[in-house]
Amino acid sequence: MYRICVIPGDGIGPEVMEAALTVLKAMDLDMEFYPALAGNACFQKLGTTIPSQTVDLALQTDATLFGAITSVPGQRSAILTLRKELDLYANLRPVKSYPGIEALYPDLDFLIVRENTEGLYAGQEEYTPDGAQALRVVTRKASRRICEFAFRQAQNKGFKRVTAVHKANVLMKTDGIFREAFYQVAEEYPELEAEDLYVDAAAMFLVKNPQRFQVLVTTNLFGDILSDEGAGLVGGLGMVPSANIGDKNALFEPVHGSAPDIAGQGVANPTAMLLSVVMMLRHLKEEDEASKLEKALLMTLKEGRVLTPDLGGDASTLKMAQEVQGHLESW
Ligand code: IPM
Ligand code: MN
Repeated sequence: MYRICVIPGDGIGPEVMEAALTVLKAMDLDMEFYPALAGNACFQKLGTTIPSQTVDLALQTDATLFGAITSVPGQRSAILTLRKELDLYANLRPVKSYPGIEALYPDLDFLIVRENTEGLYAGQEEYTPDGAQALRVVTRKASRRICEFAFRQAQNKGFKRVTAVHKANVLMKTDGIFREAFYQVAEEYPELEAEDLYVDAAAMFLVKNPQRFQVLVTTNLFGDILSDEGAGLVGGLGMVPSANIGDKNALFEPVHGSAPDIAGQGVANPTAMLLSVVMMLRHLKEEDEASKLEKALLMTLKEGRVLTPDLGGDASTLKMAQEVQGHLESW
């Protein structure tokens, strides 16, 4: 039996989470769901964006499903607290095109591996007499483990090349360490091609020739930016899932945010959330169920009959999820 911590959050978070749970509950899985609070609504209620009970639950369960939260300026985002407290050091963001979905590129399949615990997200920012400053933390240990993770992913998923993305010509020490760790790890994987690119060049290639990419590994903020760029290549933020992985815990969330502009209307695209569920099932070694759900979702996208408005349809979030659920039996 699996115990899953469920954090719906704010905005469209609860809507896409309802879609995910509807489908999951219809599957052949022995799963128990433990709801937990985080985000802005939680802050209004309890005076904290993430109570310690939520962190404890996420620590104790087999995996966490996370919808989306509204980050309030001046407060540390709950998702950042979770990544840090659970030491979820690898953020995997697969960028894939799907048949039936309008995309700038119809044939993409690459993986962004984002370092998730340090860099400019170290939370060390302060005002100075002149303005403010932020500390960019890059350790050898975190650089090594994220690069190892990226090469292992490449190996497991059949990719041939790993690209490190950095800005070592300017950030000579921090990204110098990162780049050095990357090539040290690369030596342990002689069968994989290793290359590195400056982040500005990588951003350009992502627009001009994204097919060249297979696995990208990069520091926290660059990974944040490039993954939204990746989403833009394959139909938008509604299409890209993510996995936050640590040695003991894992959390799965869509790359999109809480989208307050469309919240409450039941029109949010559930694809990224459902693909995050697929990643969770694979992580739990439920390969058969994962691939069943993936195929049912792909079939729904390809048929194009029951899609949310952003995908050109007129179905609600829940209707689209129910269509996916209906297709589960086809496999
Ligand atoms: C993401 C988000 C978060 C991040 C925000 C909400 C703090 O943009 O998961 O990409 O910057 O990591
Ligand atoms: Mn982001």
